[in-house]
Amino acid sequence: MSTPPTPRPVKKAVFPVAGLGSRFLPATKAMPKEMLTICDRPLIQHVVEEARAAGIEEFIFVTGRHKELLEEHFDLQFELEQTLESRGKTALLEKVREAELPAGRLILTRQAKPLGLGHAVWCAARIIGNEPFAVLLPDVLMKGQQSCLKQMVETYNKVGGNLIAVEEVPRAETKNYGIIDTKDQTLPVMPVAGLVEKPEPDKAPSTLSVVGRYIFQPELFEYLSAFEKGAGGEIQLTDAMAKLIGKQPFNAIRFDGKSYDCGSRLGFIEANIAYGLSDPEISQGVKEVLKRYV
Ligand code: UTP
Repeated sequence: MSTPPTPRPVKKAVFPVAGLGSRFLPATKAMPKEMLTICDRPLIQHVVEEARAAGIEEFIFVTGRHKELLEEHFDLQFELEQTLESRGKTALLEKVREAELPAGRLILTRQAKPLGLGHAVWCAARIIGNEPFAVLLPDVLMKGQQSCLKQMVETYNKVGGNLIAVEEVPRAETKNYGIIDTKDQTLPVMPVAGLVEKPEPDKAPSTLSVVGRYIFQPELFEYLSAFEKGAGGEIQLTDAMAKLIGKQPFNAIRFDGKSYDCGSRLGFIEANIAYGLSDPEISQGVKEVLKRYV
C-alpha cells in the first residue's frame, strides 16, 4: 500500500480584524475591538501567540479603518524599551518584547468595507497564494494547556485537507451556534458532512459548535470569490465552507480546552475572570474580589 502524501505545511495565518465591533459600542467607536484587553494583553496578542506556538511564520492582518493600533502594537517600541532597560525593569521589558513580531512577518491588507467575514478572508487570497493556511478569529480566545492551533496543526500534519476546531455545547443552546453535521461525534477526527447555522435543539445534527479556528486549502477562495451574500446580507465564511464539504476532505477535532467569545460583553467578562484566575500574580486577588460579589 502506498503512503498518503505528506500534507503541505501551514505557515501562514489570517487574522480578520476589519469588523465594526458593534456589539461593543461605544468602546469600539475609535478603538479596535481586537485591542480589548483580557488580563494583561489585548485579544489580538493572545491569538497571535496561539499562532506562533503552532509554528505560523507569516501573520496576515485584514484590517480596515481605525485599526492602525493593531499593527502598532506589534512594532518595536524603541524608546519604551530603552527606558525600561535603563531602569532595570527586565521582567516588563520581556513582556513588551513578547508583543513584537520579527521583521517582515506581519503582512497587512485592507478590507475597504466590512462586507462580512468571508469577504475579509478573501482579501488575503493573493498573499496566501496556492498554500494551505489558518484563520483565527481574534475575538474568540481558546484557553487550554496547549495552543488550540498547535493541536490542529498536529492533526492536520497527519490527515491534511481542511480542518476546524469544534466544542461541545448544551443541546438547549444549539440555536446560538454554527453546528456541524457528523456521523460519529466520538471520533477523535470527525469527518464533517455539513454545517447548520443556529439550528433549534431538536433539529441540530450534533452538539458540536464551530469556534473560530480553521485550517483551509486554497480552493476555499474559489467559493469565496463568488461574493454571494448570506445571513445578514454579509459574505459569510460558513457558506464557502459548506460548498467545500464533499469536494475535499473536511474534518473537525475537539479542542482540549475552553473557548471564550470575547466579542460579547458577558464572554469578555468571563474571559477576564478565567485568565485572571490563571495569572499567579493576581489569582488570589481575583478569587477574593469574586467572593465579595457573589
Ligand atoms: P464578528 O462578526 O464577531 O465581528 O467577526 P464584528 O462584525 O466586528 O462584531 P459585531 O458583530 O459588529 O459586534 C469576527 C471577526 O471577523 C472580523 C472582525 O473584526 C472580528 O475580528 N470581520 C468581520 C472582518 O474583518 N470583516 C468583516 O466584514 C466582518
